[in-house]
Amino acid sequence: MKQKSGFSGQLGFVFAAAGSAVGVGNLWRFPYLAAKDGGGLFLIIYLVLVFTVGFTLLTTDIAIGRKTGKSAIYAYQEMKKKWKFLGILTFFVPVLIMTYYAVIGGWILKYITIYLTGSGKEAVESNCFTNFISSPSSVWFGLIFMFLTALIVYNGVEKGIERVSKFIMPILLLMVIGIAIFSLTLKHPVEDGTVRTGLQGLKIYLTPDVKGLTVTRFLQISLDAMSQLFFSLSVSMGIMITYGSYVKKDVNLNKSISQIELMDTGVALLAGVMIIPAVYVFSGLDGMSAGPGLMFISLPNVFYSMGLAGRIIGLMFFILTAFAALTSCISVLESITANCMELFHAERKKVTSILTVIYLAATAIIALGYSTFYVEAQLPNGSTGQLLDIMDYISNSFMMPFIALLSSILIGWIVKPSWIEEEMELNGNKFKRKKLYNVMIRYIMPVIMFILFLQSTGLLNK
Ligand code: PFF
Repeated sequence: MKQKSGFSGQLGFVFAAAGSAVGVGNLWRFPYLAAKDGGGLFLIIYLVLVFTVGFTLLTTDIAIGRKTGKSAIYAYQEMKKKWKFLGILTFFVPVLIMTYYAVIGGWILKYITIYLTGSGKEAVESNCFTNFISSPSSVWFGLIFMFLTALIVYNGVEKGIERVSKFIMPILLLMVIGIAIFSLTLKHPVEDGTVRTGLQGLKIYLTPDVKGLTVTRFLQISLDAMSQLFFSLSVSMGIMITYGSYVKKDVNLNKSISQIELMDTGVALLAGVMIIPAVYVFSGLDGMSAGPGLMFISLPNVFYSMGLAGRIIGLMFFILTAFAALTSCISVLESITANCMELFHAERKKVTSILTVIYLAATAIIALGYSTFYVEAQLPNGSTGQLLDIMDYISNSFMMPFIALLSSILIGWIVKPSWIEEEMELNGNKFKRKKLYNVMIRYIMPVIMFILFLQSTGLLNK
């Protein structure tokens, strides 16, 4: 039988998986939540969750992948025939995410061109971002990003994904550390004659703000941290199952999982050091927005206030963001590709080519959701949004907690945790957090995932 392709070793796997995990979520969502949810308080809750909930979810996905050697659909089928439906459901998460991820990648590419060709002034001119996304020509940027992603996946696991991740991830880490240090050195006078400094901003970021803390607020912060964690680790969407299936049997999964957790969390924490002090120094934290607003409106203003240095930092920032988005985007396309290869017994190049055509079309449609195909949908969680937000809501807010809930029941109570434990203990390796895993997967995860799922349906807000 033809040997299944895979990562060359532990390092390639860890960089590729961390590449998937480290994405725009770390850069545009984590710092926002930390600023909104009481600084250090959010950080403490998040860290506790990473090493309990995050660890359980990541271990489950990666061990399922390596043990079965398959992607989601057949992996679940192999685990328990009747549960193939869960594999199919899981497969649809990346299928939906892929429709819009390259659109976001395209926005980032556009901002790289702004900083490459000018001082960054264009980015702070009124409604730059809104005008850009609502112009049909913005589609081209998304298409380029999609094409780039496809090219890497087309080249295969080792020659494409692993090679790119090993190149990108160390550069990304260095850039985040560099900008974070720069951010701490910032100083800027404000109207009342005082000077705001980066170190003051750091203090706000790290100090737990427990003033007026109520049980409800504590729970709200925990839910925020939980959904962030979910998204951030790229779990419960089959991606880590696919990547797990490419890991050789002699790799120690315990070590790899800890390294992936550390890298993802490290970049998120550093993104906070990079962004919060800078926003604080130049505009105070009240105006700190989330998501696209932070990345494409607030931060360009901060960069512009820095003068010449801002142009360089702005350019570096958008390049590192593009890197982060690219390694995440390839993991999404890879997971769809791998499932299709198994499903249709087809070879990679053929599958990737067909998927590329489909997703170039999908990317164009979603990008035009701000112009030609404009809709304003009311989502069950209370927010309104365009096509992109609808896809994001269905895949991330709705399907992921549901899949995690069913997976925990399947593993905890039907196939039993020992099924996973065996894989973690292969070659005599010690599964250090075995007891924790057992308790988490059987008792705690089902409850937490059920609450998260209820929250996404909007029922908890009523
Ligand atoms: N984990 C990525 C982040 O934190 O930005 C986001 C992500 C990647 C989500 C891949 C979904 C996905 F399929």
